[in-house]
Amino acid sequence: MLEQFEKIGQDALAELKDVKNAASIENFRLKYLSRKGLVTQMLSQVGQFPPDQRPAAGQIANQVKKKVIAEFEQVKNSVAQAQAGKTAELIDVTLPGVPVNIGRPHLITQTINELLELFGRMGFSVARGPEVEDEWHNFVALNIPPHHPARDPMDNFYIDDKTLLRTQTSTIQIRVMEKNKPPIRVVAPGRVYRPDTVDATHMFMFYQLEALVVDEDVSMVDLKTTIDQFIHAFFGPDTKWRFRPSFFPFTEPSAEVDVLWIDRNGKETWVEMGGCGMVDPNVFDAVGIDSEKYTGWAFGFGIERLAMRKYGIDDIRLLFENDLRFLKQF
Ligand code: DAH
Repeated sequence: MLEQFEKIGQDALAELKDVKNAASIENFRLKYLSRKGLVTQMLSQVGQFPPDQRPAAGQIANQVKKKVIAEFEQVKNSVAQAQAGKTAELIDVTLPGVPVNIGRPHLITQTINELLELFGRMGFSVARGPEVEDEWHNFVALNIPPHHPARDPMDNFYIDDKTLLRTQTSTIQIRVMEKNKPPIRVVAPGRVYRPDTVDATHMFMFYQLEALVVDEDVSMVDLKTTIDQFIHAFFGPDTKWRFRPSFFPFTEPSAEVDVLWIDRNGKETWVEMGGCGMVDPNVFDAVGIDSEKYTGWAFGFGIERLAMRKYGIDDIRLLFENDLRFLKQF
């Protein structure tokens, strides 16, 4: 019987020499190591030996089992390694790779980057502010009194009585002046929110670029020169634009800036880009800047409008639908 045990071991090791692939590995496992396999059966036969021979039988059976399993594991590993090597050979590293589709900045991001660079060259630094604002920065400090129609809940996304999504980036003017002394020369891009009905020219969320300059002897001439340089740099030297008298609580005098839009058929329309004006002394008082000593100007332009006019886009919704066929053009 013990010889039989040893024979099982020898047979198994001999057969292992021919095991060279996944199929023969499995066959070997079934024949010797599975629940009904020869090695497993051998172990269960140990109990049939008379008690005095049992320890010796157990020892041999275990030795055989250990040896077979150890060899089997080795063969299995080397088959797996050979297989991996073959797969590696199948990869031709000299072939050109599959091109990876990389994205690009959204047209609005591109426009913001261009604006910041352009104003950067004109000596402006960049300021930012929070989109969730308090009444002070969105209204009070901007000279918009408690019962002004601009505060109507119908025209604002209030979060609670005193907090809302900012309706204008002019809030950032206040934040900048609270923290900095003149001379001030900043631009501030950002999202603003208004409960407008969406159509070709309106969105409930859009972007503005705010500018603020405060110093001694700053005049409307500086404002006009800066806007003129900006419009010609951004749209091209032949672009026509105009000031149109207007009113904003935080500027006096105030104007709106229109740019002449010529459509595909040559039809001309004046398109409003935003508002501007000389900073109202009440605003300086609110932030503790001496309005006897300093003057300033500010503007707030719609960034989508700038991009739409520049690239001939006639529907603002295209900018927010994320249709790659549209966005890929820029
Ligand atoms: N905040 C105004 C708006 O959203 C735009 C504006 C007008 C900004 C005049 C200014 C300004 O800085 O001076 O309609």
